[in-house]
Amino acid sequence: MLPLKQMQKDNHILITGGAGYIGSHTVVELISAGYTPIVVDDFRNSNKFVLRGLGEILGDVPIIHELDVCNYRAMEEIFQKYNFKGIIHFAAYKAVGESVANPLKYYSNNIGGLTTICELALKYEVNNFVFSSSCTVYGEPEGLKEVTEDTPKSAPNSPYGNTKLIGESILKDVQNSNPNFKVINLRYFNPVGAHPSAWIGEYPLGKPNNLLPFVTQTAIGKHDHLTIFGNDYPTPDGTCIRDYIHVCDLASAHVKALAYLFKNNEPCLEAFNIGTGKGTSILEVITIFEEKTGVNLSWKFGERRDGDVVEIYANAEKSTNLLNWQPIYSIEDAVIHAWEWEKKLVEYV
Ligand code: UFG
Repeated sequence: MLPLKQMQKDNHILITGGAGYIGSHTVVELISAGYTPIVVDDFRNSNKFVLRGLGEILGDVPIIHELDVCNYRAMEEIFQKYNFKGIIHFAAYKAVGESVANPLKYYSNNIGGLTTICELALKYEVNNFVFSSSCTVYGEPEGLKEVTEDTPKSAPNSPYGNTKLIGESILKDVQNSNPNFKVINLRYFNPVGAHPSAWIGEYPLGKPNNLLPFVTQTAIGKHDHLTIFGNDYPTPDGTCIRDYIHVCDLASAHVKALAYLFKNNEPCLEAFNIGTGKGTSILEVITIFEEKTGVNLSWKFGERRDGDVVEIYANAEKSTNLLNWQPIYSIEDAVIHAWEWEKKLVEYV
């Protein structure tokens, strides 16, 4: 691999939020595919030690600008400096519960960031745009729990989810008025795991909201026990079912999405589900964790959490057929990698 600063200049991809959990793994995949990611991140929801991890994996630290994506003037300088071939827009808040408590924080940052980047993309004619969307746009699916991209969307259960739905609508309107502007919405299911090297992974600030970081933090002794939110759901074991996708597989989907945009010169507005197609219950996740790590997890059943969807998993055939994307890791791999990362974090912090 070439030193990052010598990599091809016509292959620059803007990665907003590239120091975050999914962003950092995507940086690795992009560089492996020959692109030069230009990261914009102000580290408000990530930690600078991600740079050390990326350096260990890549042999060099990626180009990074410490900026708020809502800052139009500062972002414009970035668009003037580089000739971007495409944009992957990750930078956004993502905590469901916090968004209920503080909706304006979410609308202002998630929508403000998106419109700022879109305005500049149009002004500087960067016409290939990949948006971090979420399966939250489907809400609680009626009937079949395996959703396709055509499954009707329903009201998201949080302001966070609403920002994803509104984000997709904004991009639809922008694409409609600018046919050269090509858009892919990647609807992520539940990202889990860490890079197999354990040099990068998820680093929740404060108490984790998501299941797997809470599992690994409990196992390492940061919490007394995990609370399973509800055991009386209409599922085989009474706990909620999700489609857990390894973060490296999710990252590789972004490279495939860019390739799809680059090879298609027609107007494009497409959504793709990025999941494994397999639903796993919370109790199953715990069993897998205990079996794969040999660590006994302390857990209790608690009350249901407000706004939780009972069961959802992806039909990702469209991604396989059109993007030529498929996950290569299993949930067992993801759990092992998440655990290796949790242990590695002891060295970092
Ligand atoms: N859970 C627990 N205990 C915990 C944490 C989570 O029982 O301590 C349960 C939740 O109640 C849920 C399941 O584990 O049933 C998964 O919860 P996560 O918080 O890990 O994930 P969610 O499915 O709630 O949310 C994820 C993403 C969101 C996205 C959403 C779409 O975090 O960004 O999927 O469904 F919007």
